[in-house]
Amino acid sequence: MEKKKFYITTPIYYPSDKLHIGHTYCTVATDAMARYKRLAGYDVMFLTGTDEHGQKIETKAKEAGVTPKEFVDKIVEGPQGVKDLWKLMNISNDRFIRTTDDYHVAAVQKIFKKMYDKGDIYKGSYKGKYCTPCESFWTESQLVDGCCPDCGRPVVDAEEEAYFFRLSKYADKVRDLLENTDFLQPRSRVNEMVKNFIDPGLEDLCVSRTSFTWGIPVDFDPGHVVYVWVDALFNYTTALGFLNDQYDDYDKYWPADVHFVGKEIVRFHSIIWPAMLMSMEMPLPKHVFGHGWLLLDGGKMSKSKGNVVDPYILAEKFGVDALRFFLMRTFPFGSDGNFSNELLIQTINTDLANDLGNLLSRTTAMVGKYFGGQLPAGCKTWENPEPFDTDLIAMASALRDAYESQMEAYAPHNALAEVFKVIQRANKYIDETAPWALAKDMDANGKRLAHVLYNLLEATRICGILLSPFMPESMDKLFVQIGASADVRTWDSAAVWGALSETAAVTKGENLFPRIDMDKAIAELEAAAEAAKKASLPAIEVEPQLTEQVNFDTFCKSDFRAVKVKACENVKKSEKLLKFTLDDGTGTDRQILSGIAKYYKPEELVGKTLVAIVNLPPRKMMGQESCGMLISAVHTEKGEEKLHLLMVDDAIPAGAKLC
Ligand code: MSP
Repeated sequence: MEKKKFYITTPIYYPSDKLHIGHTYCTVATDAMARYKRLAGYDVMFLTGTDEHGQKIETKAKEAGVTPKEFVDKIVEGPQGVKDLWKLMNISNDRFIRTTDDYHVAAVQKIFKKMYDKGDIYKGSYKGKYCTPCESFWTESQLVDGCCPDCGRPVVDAEEEAYFFRLSKYADKVRDLLENTDFLQPRSRVNEMVKNFIDPGLEDLCVSRTSFTWGIPVDFDPGHVVYVWVDALFNYTTALGFLNDQYDDYDKYWPADVHFVGKEIVRFHSIIWPAMLMSMEMPLPKHVFGHGWLLLDGGKMSKSKGNVVDPYILAEKFGVDALRFFLMRTFPFGSDGNFSNELLIQTINTDLANDLGNLLSRTTAMVGKYFGGQLPAGCKTWENPEPFDTDLIAMASALRDAYESQMEAYAPHNALAEVFKVIQRANKYIDETAPWALAKDMDANGKRLAHVLYNLLEATRICGILLSPFMPESMDKLFVQIGASADVRTWDSAAVWGALSETAAVTKGENLFPRIDMDKAIAELEAAAEAAKKASLPAIEVEPQLTEQVNFDTFCKSDFRAVKVKACENVKKSEKLLKFTLDDGTGTDRQILSGIAKYYKPEELVGKTLVAIVNLPPRKMMGQESCGMLISAVHTEKGEEKLHLLMVDDAIPAGAKLC
């Protein structure tokens, strides 16, 4: 019989920085889901990848002095890059797409043209706000206090020629999809989308840009690049071979069964994405699931805030499986959760070291000690079961179905909770049956003891199967210890109590989840985070501080003032000098010459508020008078001298005294 198909995706990641634990969360969840479906007999396609275009990448590459492609190559393919991280985390994706891949680029161009030919994409003009120094367009709502959200400077009204997608045309259909189907989950996200975006009225979406070049060119209109979200969303179809010859699985796997995405990108996936698919007359994905965020101290992790948690450090310290497990067990998938190292260690100690680890090690140790590692034939059955025998067997036998319904509802945390109820039940069973007491009289109780231990092995096996999508490597080791052969590690066998051979060879192996010393581990983690922070800083040398003291009155004689740059130009015949015309608050322009032409272009400095000493005697440089000195910071970085003019808040008026 042909297997049922299951196509699942993660968002494709922006390779603008190293990925953190929040990104890892989503990919591990998708991986656990994909592995569960494979276990349950599905033909699974699991796609992940990277979303490599856009202004942010272009800017970052420029700052790094490399091309955008070189920049993303390093973060995607380089050491500790995206691919490395997924390998480390044992992610079983079947495919990896990069939006810079040629086949994707060509397919997106065809898609854009198709929507244009249909009349769903049209040319118009984009009215917005423009930040001249940043060369960025912003919408009114993106501004922060009316200024550029990137640099905080004033913006001006601007208009840019652009293509638009007729999103408004699909508003009713999208509303119907959200309100009347189970397309978007969890349900609470539907209300958010409808209230915030559909009710106020969907406007047509600007889908091309001309203010930067790092994007997929609109092939019929040079100068325009495709809006990065249009480019990115179609990855889910081009990676299967839609409008390209690279792959041939589109008919087989599309539509996707589910896109797992973080909550801030639900809008793109549940409004824009279905509308574009409707325009393209393509089937819609069956579900979009918007998961919550991992927070740190209640706030979102971000590189710019410097509060990201490095999955490499955690995986190395606690093991990949323990980390995967923690992420899925602790945080309800649809809600936000607060990450902390303490919580991670506590979860490992409670669930893995105490509950699962103890069950496994006590059971295998007792089979070894009392039966030499092999139970006798006939141990599976017992004529007059005690209530706790029946209870354990009933719970373990029903576990697979309970787990399945939670996994099908995209609630991996609840599926794991079901498994741990059985593990806890089994540990209680050890206390209730007191095998060590039975072992005191093997002649009288040997058969009963063997039955008790068989029940424990069997409960462990069933739990092991259902934990394997979350901790694949550790569960393989667990199966070896309890002697479970391949045929009793399967999904079908997870619903069959008694599938384990009575005489399976049991070995007490390594401790799979050693207990962690909380205080020691926390101290080590903090030291590692500190070291990583230091290592990521550029190697900077600064001049040693002077030890000779200066008299306070002497210091006060230097008159530091805020000055505003009215004009700035290169001094003719000088490679070094810039000539500044400054407003120093006196009403008369002040001229200062400064040897910083190597570091700044004159036009970059106009409008800036700088700091100058204004009571130095005038001096002549290249025949021109300089009245004062601008203050800058200097240091050496990787052998190269760097200089930054001291710039102060533009709110400080020209002439303000600095003291
Ligand atoms: N490139 C887009 C996705 C395009 S999909 C067609 C993008 N990339 S991203 O790298 O910024 O984020 C990728 C995913 O990581 C998002 O789903 C985002 O929600 C998730 N996470 C980033 N930080 C997170 C947390 N702190 N916690 C949980 N997930 C978070 O968006």
